[in-house]
Amino acid sequence: MDKFIIEGKTPLKGTIAVSGSKNAALPLMAASLLAEGPVKLTNIPILDDIHTFNKVIKETGCKVEFNHADRSILFDASGVTQYIAPYELVRKMRASFYMLGALVGRYGYAKVSLPGGCAWGPRPVNLHLEALKAIGVKIKMDNGYVIAEAPPSGIPGGEFTFNPRSVGATVNVILAAVLAKGKTVLHNVAQEPDVVQLCQALAQMGADIQGIGKSKLTINGVNSLKGQTLRNAPDRIETGTYMLAGIMNPDSHVTITNTDPDDLGHFLEQFEQTGALMNISGTTITVKAPEIIQPVSITTDVYPGFPTDLQAQWATVMTLADGKSVITDTIYTDRFSYVPELGRLGAQLDVKLNSVHVNGNSQLTSASIMSTDLRASVSLVMAAMNAEGTSEVLRVYHLDRGYEFLETKLNAIGAKITRAKE
Ligand code: UD1
Repeated sequence: MDKFIIEGKTPLKGTIAVSGSKNAALPLMAASLLAEGPVKLTNIPILDDIHTFNKVIKETGCKVEFNHADRSILFDASGVTQYIAPYELVRKMRASFYMLGALVGRYGYAKVSLPGGCAWGPRPVNLHLEALKAIGVKIKMDNGYVIAEAPPSGIPGGEFTFNPRSVGATVNVILAAVLAKGKTVLHNVAQEPDVVQLCQALAQMGADIQGIGKSKLTINGVNSLKGQTLRNAPDRIETGTYMLAGIMNPDSHVTITNTDPDDLGHFLEQFEQTGALMNISGTTITVKAPEIIQPVSITTDVYPGFPTDLQAQWATVMTLADGKSVITDTIYTDRFSYVPELGRLGAQLDVKLNSVHVNGNSQLTSASIMSTDLRASVSLVMAAMNAEGTSEVLRVYHLDRGYEFLETKLNAIGAKITRAKE
């Protein structure tokens, strides 16, 4: 396993380009299975999660060619003969569960492993299954696998209300509904940019989806979808992460390019309340660190609210703020594995129910730290970059799942991060 050795107290100065979005790419990759012709996706990040999902898709017999040089993947589903997503792959990445909606939608049958637990507690799939049932898919369990089957006459369609809103469940049922025989009406759907992009892509492929971007979607099933070239959005969580990393040292001044500021929702207003200077111009965001970081409490929410995927990074910045703040996660109430690790660097913060209470004004000092998930890991890297001395962040494979060339990008603007074997 790899670790990072990080020299602290390095200001970040320069330009950093955002990669394509991991979470937005995965639904598009699943949607490629629905097309009659080849689908080419561009602006795809080179990440372990993308490689894993490519493997899942290949298991079906779909041709998958990932061209790293131009960040594109070409899918050709004409040779699909297997409708299975095995446990060995699904357990590595929960989003493989999107195969359920895509396979049953296109071929009328899917056998997909249940994803199992996750580093930050239970992540149920009840809504995925209930929504599929509501549109007429038969669901049964078999040895840890979900078997989804369409009636012989095809998926009839139906009506479903999500409660709570779920990105994954919304994606799965959309994938199953676009080729259905009848009409599907979905209420309280996730409105995250990743879901909007999926709907727009499917519409471009020939799907009939009304209400894109709104909380009610109406999908009239069509007979077939055609292949297309589709450009994936920039990664909004990577953008937010670099914005936050860019204000922890008072000398930092970072320009973030190739992004889409609109995808950040209310995060942008909350970011400015820290005292940081922010300038947005088209697809570029420039941030300048404040002399003193103001404490700002946040509560995560569905889009356009504060994203849970930036919660750990926010708490990390707040350890350096001039006062107390409270970070509350309403989406994943137990996503705080980074808290004791930040404590090892000298930060003062405590978990109470689903909130982290942060005492600001910490003087961070080096330590060996380790984490169990993607966003927690990046927050530890951010903290180590601002701690006195040389720290080690262990198990960086979590970062390789979701941040393209993290240390290369950060080192290019002043960080001192070395990758080594643990
Ligand atoms: C996606 C993102 C993840 C992000 C999360 C919330 C991907 C690959 N992952 O995860 O990075 O943190 O959105 O923005 O895009 N829920 C249920 N039953 C279900 C499904 C979900 O109760 O069947 C609950 C969850 O426990 C959670 C809430 O709904 O409290 C939202 O989860 P959801 O939007 O489904 O997250 P994911 O799609 O898994």
